[in-house]
Amino acid sequence: MQQEEIWDADTAQRYDTPGSGMFAPEVLEPAVDRLAQLAGGGEALEFAIGTGRIAVPLAERGVPVTGIELSLPMVEQLRTKADEATIPVIVGDMASTVAPGKYTLVYLVYNTISNLLTQDEQVQCFRNAARHLTPGGRFVVELWVPELRKLPPGQTATVWQSEPGYIGLDTYDVLHQHVVSHHFRFDETQQARLFRSPHRYVWPAELDLMAQLAGFELETRHADWAGAEFTAESRSHVSVYRIPPAG
Ligand SMILES: C[S@@+](CC[C@H](N)C(=O)[O-])C[C@H]1O[C@@H](n2cnc3c(N)ncnc32)[C@H](O)[C@@H]1O
Repeated sequence: MQQEEIWDADTAQRYDTPGSGMFAPEVLEPAVDRLAQLAGGGEALEFAIGTGRIAVPLAERGVPVTGIELSLPMVEQLRTKADEATIPVIVGDMASTVAPGKYTLVYLVYNTISNLLTQDEQVQCFRNAARHLTPGGRFVVELWVPELRKLPPGQTATVWQSEPGYIGLDTYDVLHQHVVSHHFRFDETQQARLFRSPHRYVWPAELDLMAQLAGFELETRHADWAGAEFTAESRSHVSVYRIPPAG
């Protein structure tokens, strides 16, 4: 299944949930605050900008934001909120597409580096981020910690969320470091809506090595956007990589 097939017009139209889920103020505000601070008065580039969930409020905060995005339907949704002059978007693959200009901040949030399904593409993505940054510039990655401790030997699937009307189920191919997330949404009828997305999961240590290959140093790693300590029990991390300042 190609990313273009996954992020189609139907998914793009359903993506935004204003005020709730990943669009809830308590999710968005700490992320936008932190990214605005890390941009340090310069310009930001979002890899896989999607419908502008983060980019729109970040631009409203006064940070100039450009995007790279593979899916035209996702960009069309973004265009209902911000025009090309406000948030320019280059349609293409974040592992290779070049946006004009230099940036103090490149960011790639909501686990999206895992949408690149090979190690090679993920390394290329780090190199592409480095290519766009000024000396001292930062690349921020938000990514979940693989939950393999929950996968008993001999089993290939885990339920990671179960609540009324929703079941989140992951199926693993541990040989290739792949996981497919299955999101089942259902009501009292016999029908369920299924959204599936394939990912290549990455351990924080592997991510750091990819960063090193592209010339970055790890500056900070926290468990969330508000700066909670990253521990062995953390389910996610916000990692800030930096190109060492010249001299
Ligand atoms: C989970 S959404 C995240 C969107 C947005 N960053 C956000 O935080 O809401 C994943 C996005 O990544 C895009 N995407 C997937 N693979 C990509 C690639 N190789 N290059 C650019 N965009 C990609 C998809 O089209 C989709 O818009």
